[in-house]
Amino acid sequence: MLTAENASFLRPFVKWAGGKSQLLLQFQCLYPEKDSVGRYLEPFLGSGAVFFHVKGLLQPARALLTDTNAELIDAFLAVRDEVDHLIELLRQHQEQHCESYYYEVRNQNPQTCVTRAARLIYLNKTGFNGLYRVNSRGLFNVPFGRHVKPKVLDETRLRAASAALEKTDLRPGDFRALSAGARKRDFIYFDPPYQPLSKTAYFTSYTSGSFGENDQRDLAALYTKLDRRGCLLMLSNSDTPLIRELYAGFHIHRVSARRNINSNSEKRGPVFEVVVLNYQPKAHHAQTVPPR
Ligand SMILES: C[S@@+](CC[C@H](N)C(=O)[O-])C[C@H]1O[C@@H](n2cnc3c(N)ncnc32)[C@H](O)[C@@H]1O
Repeated sequence: MLTAENASFLRPFVKWAGGKSQLLLQFQCLYPEKDSVGRYLEPFLGSGAVFFHVKGLLQPARALLTDTNAELIDAFLAVRDEVDHLIELLRQHQEQHCESYYYEVRNQNPQTCVTRAARLIYLNKTGFNGLYRVNSRGLFNVPFGRHVKPKVLDETRLRAASAALEKTDLRPGDFRALSAGARKRDFIYFDPPYQPLSKTAYFTSYTSGSFGENDQRDLAALYTKLDRRGCLLMLSNSDTPLIRELYAGFHIHRVSARRNINSNSEKRGPVFEVVVLNYQPKAHHAQTVPPR
């Protein structure tokens, strides 16, 4: 059960590209009123940073969480259903951790949900930069990360996450499947892979078959459909002309994020992202900001 004590430890148990932990304080004033929310749905789950935050603040009784990454969903299932066994396996990984052990585990292909989860969490905590990356054959190929004393097992955090995931439906799958099950008053947070800011980046991702412009358009069509159904909708994306065009009829707020990916340190710094809402947020001081 989620108690006031373990709720204070609610945080993601993996690091994930595009994770929203750094934006949660800005998101807090953009959530809907607690009393207006039915279930919580999140179709691009990643590390679940927003789910854990919403669970602590708005306490929705039920949630439906999905992501196309089936291995990630297995990890959430193991945390929900087999947390004692998972903790034991992570303890064993932690005891044996060294560079050669990392590559040994990386080459394994465990067959049960809990052993797959332990492998994913171990590699996430000890691999280079907490990346999840697979090759064309679907095999995890992130190199060893030179972390000093990585915390492979965080038992308190795993137990809090397990309690938060009770009564949560977890499924692998594409965001388009959400349309069938969403109901009036469901609060839905969408955090898709972002529309790239530069054309070069856009064409690279398009040809590699990742989330392209057609997916962004399908997502905007789904957003409009669910708005008509009476769902409460919140969506993150980059601040680009296409995104502003696709969501022109809704409330567009701007939040600032840190991006440390530029090799030129002078070009690192805040970038603006948009949060699109179809409702008036509970804190009305949140500003709707015009385009850059
Ligand atoms: C930006 S990340 C979400 C990050 C998350 N909000 C967090 O805080 O960690 C986007 C996620 O969408 C998933 N994804 C990519 N394409 C998808 C699709 N077509 N349908 C559902 N999920 C998808 C990826 O596996 C990834 O976990």
